[in-house]
Amino acid sequence: MGKVIAVAQQKGGAGKTMLAAQLAVALAEDARVALVDIDPQGSLTIWGRLRASAPKAVQSVTVETIAGWRLANEVERLKKTHDYVLIDTPPVIDSDARRAIRGADLVMVPLNPAPPDLWAAEGTLKLAAEEKRKTVLVFNRAPAASRLRKKLEAEIAARGLTLLAVALANRAGYANAFADGLGVTEAGPATIAAAELREAAKALKLLLAAK
Ligand SMILES: Nc1ncnc2c1ncn2[C@@H]1O[C@H](COP(=O)(O)OP(=O)(O)O)[C@@H](O)[C@H]1O
Ligand SMILES: [Mg+2]
Repeated sequence: MGKVIAVAQQKGGAGKTMLAAQLAVALAEDARVALVDIDPQGSLTIWGRLRASAPKAVQSVTVETIAGWRLANEVERLKKTHDYVLIDTPPVIDSDARRAIRGADLVMVPLNPAPPDLWAAEGTLKLAAEEKRKTVLVFNRAPAASRLRKKLEAEIAARGLTLLAVALANRAGYANAFADGLGVTEAGPATIAAAELREAAKALKLLLAAK
């Protein structure tokens, strides 16, 4: 049975869709991966369409667009034929977000390493705690070192929350690859962004395996 990762965070623009797509492509280098878009904004769905005609899209990743209420059945089906199922969710706390979290082995919460982003994540963290789901915070668009980042790392540790060991920096490469329907490991396999992302995917796999 595949592992299900719900990418959730009440705050818009935190990088949910970006992380879901990028990690899916990186994981697909040696696994069967499905992406599920339950966000009515449909950014991941558009990425999937671009991908269908992108010559550099070498990894095979299934992209499904479904209404939140159908999620449970769909995920059960996809789990049978994929090693990883990543769900991209809308920036709200509602019944769809709860469904995505309920069915997940791991809830991934992207955030900029600044306190307001952690504050914005509280609703999602609470939901994950209510559903007794394992959670991992992931720093996205993170500066290599900053006072705020250190402060936030300390706060996350003090609260007993898990932070992914690998943070993603703010890189044009991520946005450019996404705009072409690609993952950065396909668009520029030898770039720093690709190396960073592969490390993040590895850290994610370890977390899932430790469950
Ligand atoms: N690490 C990153 N480096 C550069 N741009 C990024 C990065 N992460 C996200 N972005 C950009 O930030 C914007 C918001 O990201 P997105 O994944 O759509 O957020 P969300 O799905 O949480 O609303 C998008 O334009 C995306 O291209
Ligand atoms: Mg999104």
